[in-house]
Amino acid sequence: MSNAREYYDRTSEGYVSKWREIDRKPENPAFYFRRRLIEGLLDLAAIREGERVVEMGCGTGLVLKEALKRTRPVFGTDISIEMLRRVQDSVLADRRVEIVSGFSGVPRGPAGIRGGADAYLMVDDIRNPSLPAGLFDVVLSLEVLRYVESLDSCLARVRSVLAPGSRFVFSATNLWSASLFPLRFSLRRRLGLVKPDRELLQYFVTEGSLRSRLRRAGFEVTGFRRARLASINPLFSPLIRTSAAARRIETAEDALSRVPIVRGLFDTFLVAARPC
Ligand SMILES: C[S@@+](CC[C@H](N)C(=O)[O-])C[C@H]1O[C@@H](n2cnc3c(N)ncnc32)[C@H](O)[C@@H]1O
Repeated sequence: MSNAREYYDRTSEGYVSKWREIDRKPENPAFYFRRRLIEGLLDLAAIREGERVVEMGCGTGLVLKEALKRTRPVFGTDISIEMLRRVQDSVLADRRVEIVSGFSGVPRGPAGIRGGADAYLMVDDIRNPSLPAGLFDVVLSLEVLRYVESLDSCLARVRSVLAPGSRFVFSATNLWSASLFPLRFSLRRRLGLVKPDRELLQYFVTEGSLRSRLRRAGFEVTGFRRARLASINPLFSPLIRTSAAARRIETAEDALSRVPIVRGLFDTFLVAARPC
């Protein structure tokens, strides 16, 4: 069970408002860091024109919008229909976006996808995707695996939709994050203090466990980056008021990502893996 669907159905408008100005106000540090995360994800994915790309847990389409600059059409799935509606009426309102009832609803001809849409969206669960096996060159997923408890079976199922020579590029959240949120949350969850009717259930990984789970699910890691250390710590983040400050912090974090022990405290892992 996951309570993410109800949560995101309820808060989709808020999610749109939170990121509405991401392109218009690049000097805002929160927007700066978010854009950098999306750029990092797409950089690792190295999407080529014509490749078949799906983002699982696409939310309101912030990543799809950037992916569309590299290939077309793109596919997006999400457990929340309201988040998909926000792609259509907000983030990609200037594009042709179709919400279909499943992959079989995507118009196809002998040469492949036949419809003229820029993006095809469907309700689907990353824990058990109903997409056709072996079809996608790239599966993207940003900030979704933190809602997945049974990561092993999820990874195996995501792997099944990947074509030969393809890649799965995703983020996962480090249990040892310098934000201390994952550690505190996990402790509260273990003590039974997290109330699923009031807050999102979340799950975190360590780098070691993530790497061994990927191996067990039949993936080889081809790229691994760490993002956000000081910038996510409640002591430092209020001091970062401009994108210039954010850029300086990012440069420092880049150097720190090479320092043993400290590198273990980054918040977000960006991972590229290929089925082997
Ligand atoms: C933090 S948002 C990220 C959205 C988007 N990837 C982005 O970076 O803007 C998390 C999204 O994951 C979706 N989600 C949560 N659990 C899911 C699941 N089991 N399967 C598919 N989507 C899920 C939520 O509905 C929500 O849209």
